[in-house]
Amino acid sequence: MIGTIDIRECAPHDVESIEALYPTAFPEEDLLPLVRELLAATRDTLSLVGIIGDVLAGHILFTICSVARKPDKVALLGPLAVAPACQRQGVGAALIHAGMRRMETAGMRSIFVLGDPGYYGRFGFAPDDGVTPPYRLPEEWRDAWQSHVFGDNGGPLQGELSVPQPWRHPALWEG
Ligand SMILES: CC(C)(COP(=O)(O)OP(=O)(O)OC[C@H]1O[C@@H](n2cnc3c(N)ncnc32)[C@H](O)[C@@H]1OP(=O)(O)O)[C@@H](O)C(=O)NCCC(=O)NCCS
Repeated sequence: MIGTIDIRECAPHDVESIEALYPTAFPEEDLLPLVRELLAATRDTLSLVGIIGDVLAGHILFTICSVARKPDKVALLGPLAVAPACQRQGVGAALIHAGMRRMETAGMRSIFVLGDPGYYGRFGFAPDDGVTPPYRLPEEWRDAWQSHVFGDNGGPLQGELSVPQPWRHPALWEG
């Protein structure tokens, strides 16, 4: 077991460590352009870091979106990265839990994610076919599109997720 994980909002001095983290967590995928764009956004994002000692062990982003231009606030979770040396020690879980709490407090109705259902299922995410992603997913990713709904608040949402500019790159969705 590693030391205590401190979760806090990302500060400007974290950016260098975040930029070093992503290529190690995702050696075959270049998420840095997306991460940089989201970090540069001045509104509608939540960026949290997990710190162990003085090391940045993980990072998570949430982006506030809408569904079919309705007034409900929802958020998209991602990316999430944990440094290989710190994986399987609860850092990812701590970042997800902390972020979800803040998103619920901020009034989100649901959180969406495109990720491994084996992992996100642990946090109450389940495949969603009411809200569609902004681009057509490959067939084999169908179960990877999931949502977590906060409470029973008015039935399932229907329509297309409307995402801000950093997420409007088909390659992020089409594999
Ligand atoms: C996936 C990732 C974010 C998980 O973070 P983490 O801090 O390692 O995970 P946690 O310690 O919170 O949870 C670990 C548990 O989840 C499981 N787990 C990890 N990745 C999983 C996956 N893709 N599918 C199913 N289970 C997974 C582990 O087996 C472990 O289970 P155990 O506790 O029963 O042994 C991290 O491993 C990572 O950054 N990986 C590389 C980048 C990546 O794939 N990110 C996915 C974001 S969509």
